[in-house]
Amino acid sequence: MAKRMRLDKLLSNMGFGTRSEIRKVVKQGRVTVDGVIVKDFGMLLDPEAQTVMFDDETVIYKDTIYVMLNKPQGVISATEDKRERTVLDLLDPEDQVLQPFPVGRLDKDTEGLLLLTNDGKLAHELLSPKKHVPKTYEALVHGDVDASDQDAFAQGVTLEDGYETMPAKLIIGEKESREDGVYSSITLTIHEGKFHQVKRMFESVGKKVVYLRRISMGPLLLDESLPLGAYRPLTEAELESLQNAHR
Ligand code: URA
Repeated sequence: MAKRMRLDKLLSNMGFGTRSEIRKVVKQGRVTVDGVIVKDFGMLLDPEAQTVMFDDETVIYKDTIYVMLNKPQGVISATEDKRERTVLDLLDPEDQVLQPFPVGRLDKDTEGLLLLTNDGKLAHELLSPKKHVPKTYEALVHGDVDASDQDAFAQGVTLEDGYETMPAKLIIGEKESREDGVYSSITLTIHEGKFHQVKRMFESVGKKVVYLRRISMGPLLLDESLPLGAYRPLTEAELESLQNAHR
């Protein structure tokens, strides 16, 4: 069935201004629909079939949004909160219009890759426990992470609440001695997403994660050129790879 939408809503959803700004420019005759100037801002149209132009710019209609955020510490993975800043607060107002939400959660003190979308179906597929979508994290761990931890994680460890984790791949990087002991840089790939999972896995082997960031989720890799707190739309190729990976 054809989609019918008000002209002022279409323009505000596509980031051309607030509803009241848009009503003004429509009345000024700066907007055309199929080549004809329209001054009725409440006009109903089919945004997929009709051509809307604002001054000389064609209004490209989209009703989905997919962005990759490099989440900084200090913001929570929620859409709203009374006290805390959320990842949504990092988006420009025009990118909030389509009501994206974070796909899964990173802790307040975790950095890195977070996908935000309003595509509930894709989010559901990426988060489904049945799909085992791999997620890779880099961490700094207080403790001397060694081959016994690699073996334990490869077998699956028991968390403090009795949950047995699925096999996970632990790669050990550089180590550093400090006054309070050894710190290990590691990379860990897990295939599930229990609450505080990476931190709890290290707790189960008596070690503490002191820094954590996510670098991938399924086929999606964190764009290292994004500064902390910055975001960008997914490329067509990234979106396709996500859509195809877990069907
Ligand atoms: N595991 C954690 O412990 N925290 C995160 O934010 C993500 C995975």
